[in-house]
Amino acid sequence: MTTVATAAILQALPDPVLLIDGKKTIVSANDAAKNLLGAQIEGRSLVLALRQPEVLDAVNDVLGGEDHRSAHISLMTSVRRSFDIQVTTLEAAAQSNARAVLIMHDITAARNAEQMRADFVTNVSHELRSPLSSLVGFIETLRGPARDDESARDRFLDLMDSESKRMARLIDDLLSLSRVEANEHILPDGQVELRALLADVTDALSMRANGRSLTISFARDGASVFAPGDWDELTEVFHNLIDNAVKYCPEHTKVRVEIDEIERIPEIGLPGVVIAIANEGDGIPAEHLPRLTERFYRVDKGRSRTMGGTGLGLAIVKHIVNRHRGQLTVDSALGQGTVFKVFLPSVRDVAESDDLSQY
Ligand SMILES: Nc1ncnc2c1ncn2[C@@H]1O[C@H](COP(=O)(O)OP(=O)(O)O)[C@@H](O)[C@H]1O
Ligand SMILES: [Mg+2]
Repeated sequence: MTTVATAAILQALPDPVLLIDGKKTIVSANDAAKNLLGAQIEGRSLVLALRQPEVLDAVNDVLGGEDHRSAHISLMTSVRRSFDIQVTTLEAAAQSNARAVLIMHDITAARNAEQMRADFVTNVSHELRSPLSSLVGFIETLRGPARDDESARDRFLDLMDSESKRMARLIDDLLSLSRVEANEHILPDGQVELRALLADVTDALSMRANGRSLTISFARDGASVFAPGDWDELTEVFHNLIDNAVKYCPEHTKVRVEIDEIERIPEIGLPGVVIAIANEGDGIPAEHLPRLTERFYRVDKGRSRTMGGTGLGLAIVKHIVNRHRGQLTVDSALGQGTVFKVFLPSVRDVAESDDLSQY
């Protein structure tokens, strides 16, 4: 292959590539390498361009006669990035003094995904373990010290009942989450009348609201509002959001549920429907807002737990709204309250439904 062709190939590679001579000077770098390490790196010493002992060891070994070495490094750019480094010997080429080629493959995304998976398993195990430990403890107490104590037995059985229900809720939410994630790329094919759906959800939650002396206000008699969607999944969305509003607002206040048709959904640009769920209360501090839809993220873990939460509700909501090509927003003012909004397109973007591969 000609030198020109080799240079063009190096240039076309998406991964940073450096050619290095016998004195560890960078004789050539492609654009990806210049973007990462600086535009002026050609002619500089590798020792200065990439201050990474593992990389220098690998290069020294290859220049010393080994065919191939690899290394892993982390670089602090605007974010921390991980790279898999491959250093390979180059046959002495006539017109070039390059002796080794160094290829940097960015594995940050794979590392992050692996970390998320590991964190998720840790979180699930932890969340299941704590009610399970309580159950084991109650069983031991009932077999031992509380064996003949009738009132203690009833109290412990009540606690065991609520702990086992907590485990069941967690498992239901985990299954729900994995089902929704698996379907996220497939558009729902039904048509849903949202006013009736919201009336059903508010009815289902009215007991819980009464228990906290709250009212849920919703204009159930208004005009019908249709949107393409899946009835069960949208029920799950609004059940979670209204349930949160009911749980996290002070007693004797009002939860407002409103639905409106709008010309253009912000960011999406299509006509659609917006459903707002507003509650009074302390509000959510701004630093928590971007993380609320992460699995198991809770502003106040103790409070969520006493209210019977799993920390998965908003993660489920987010995935279902994504599947409907909608948008979820949250606004919260400290000392005043919180408004969650779900935007759902009422028509399908034709170009988009032809090409779902982008999702
Ligand atoms: N309407 C709301 N007002 C205040 N905080 C809320 C509201 N909705 C959700 N949150 C916060 O977001 C967290 C995550 O919500 P969610 O995923 O539904 O989990 P949980 O099972 O705890 O309800 C909650 O623990 C709570 O801290
Ligand atoms: Mg919830």
